[in-house]
Amino acid sequence: MANILCIGAGYVGGPTMAVIAKHCPQHRVVAVDINAEKIAAWQSDDLPIYEPGLKEIVLGARGRNLFFSTEIERNIAEADVIFVSVNTPTKTFGRGAGKAADLQYWEKTARQIVENSNSSKIVVEKSTLPVRTAVAMERILNSNDRGLFFDVISNPEFLAEGTAIHNMENPDRVLIGGRETPSGQKAVQTIVDIYAQWVPRDRILTTNLWSSELSKLAANAFLAQRVSSINALANLCEQTGADVTEVADAIGADSRIGPRFLRAGVGFGGSCFKKDILNLVYLCEHYGLVEVAAYWEQVVTMNEYQQSNFVTKMVNAMFNTVAGKRIALFGAAFKANTSDTRESPALHICRSLLDERAQVVITDPYALNSARAALSDVADHVVFEPDPYAAARGAYAIALITDWAQYSGLDYQQIFDGMVQPAFLFDGRNLLDHKVLHATGYNVYPTGKPPLTHFTNGA
Ligand code: NAD
Ligand code: UGA
Repeated sequence: MANILCIGAGYVGGPTMAVIAKHCPQHRVVAVDINAEKIAAWQSDDLPIYEPGLKEIVLGARGRNLFFSTEIERNIAEADVIFVSVNTPTKTFGRGAGKAADLQYWEKTARQIVENSNSSKIVVEKSTLPVRTAVAMERILNSNDRGLFFDVISNPEFLAEGTAIHNMENPDRVLIGGRETPSGQKAVQTIVDIYAQWVPRDRILTTNLWSSELSKLAANAFLAQRVSSINALANLCEQTGADVTEVADAIGADSRIGPRFLRAGVGFGGSCFKKDILNLVYLCEHYGLVEVAAYWEQVVTMNEYQQSNFVTKMVNAMFNTVAGKRIALFGAAFKANTSDTRESPALHICRSLLDERAQVVITDPYALNSARAALSDVADHVVFEPDPYAAARGAYAIALITDWAQYSGLDYQQIFDGMVQPAFLFDGRNLLDHKVLHATGYNVYPTGKPPLTHFTNGA
């Protein structure tokens, strides 16, 4: 039996430990966090995050071989393997502000591990980190005068929110990077053995440390780049009469390109794409690769344009003013099936509409609390309304921002009847049946497709 610890019980740490505990009943698995409220929630029936399938797994293992605790020091002392899954946000101060990763939580954790250890351990980088962070980690951990030796392993996480459990139960691959020394390779094997309890061996890739660290940033950069690429084309579609869904289907049918991650929309959100690309940009700049940095930075620039241009299109369509107009935003989460609003396009769009003096009403099935917290500085000017019908009542426009499945099943005739006419609907996710909505009476503005309006000049 091994004692497995995870420092940081957030979106990644909590679910990862739950899945390891489920598949490795022989190991004792503990997730610790400095946030006592979060730990209390992990210990309750009201878990701190919503993920389909998570609760069942936590309830199945909790108290058996899965534990949540705030006792960080004692658990470090007892652990054989320590995953570190603390947050690594973008730096907001000093050198590299706005781009580089803020590694202060990371370094504090490393120091805490060495201070509280009385045996050698394997330390696993689970957080997403700049390439070569493991060197700093090794130096801090192995600068001790107690003869303790720490192997540092990189094992980045590729789960997507909303499908976290499915992704972890059936990963496309698990990546484990380590030093090419006998001790490093032994540590790699220890981590391989944990995952091999449920992941087919040919899906567990082992690499050197730097390849593993860089592959995580590279994977997110490639995914985000596809979204920005299709969004760039959506703008051209709107100018030319092409339909971005047809274009995406046509190019996605090429097996070399593939169909996934080609949905045009209001831009990507989430806690990681922007942060990780900017981290990559900073690394490239650090190594003097100016053109390479500019190449990747454009993915973020395009995404920001997509969000601001969505509001520009709304204002233009609504006779160049939304001041005083009630506008219902359908969706606050950065995508469906999550309560997370970090970097959600809905927040940016809400703020831009407030700048235009619109009256914004936000509705969302799961993310309203998170949206309220994220918009606390402007909360007096925003209405948070769980019921989409109530949100749209008296509105001049609906802007669909999150692709929640339930939004395609609403009674849009009933909603239309309660709206100010002419009623506008901006589908930022191309989720709805635009022809049906147009027939109902809406002036419909899809993304990357010609608008369907009732105005005689066809605007
Ligand atoms: P999170 O904010 O949800 O969780 C991080 C947790 O670490 C927080 O609960 C925080 O209280 C805790 N923490 C910070 N410092 C601590 C310390 N010294 N001791 C104990 N706990 C501490 O973040 P997250 O979304 O889980 O992301 C964690 C890492 O995983 C990031 O590097 C992120 O880039 C990466 N990642 C995230 C996702 C995702 O979908 N959210 C996916 C893959 C990778
Ligand atoms: C993403 C990656 O998919 C994960 O592999 C990675 O582990 C994670 O980031 C991370 O490092 O945090 P996540 O941000 O949870 O996962 O969600 P995605 O499904 O990737 O969606 C990101 C954003 O892109 C969402 O706002 C989504 O709406 C948008 N998107 C996605 C599109 O606009 N179009 C698409 O075709 C796909």
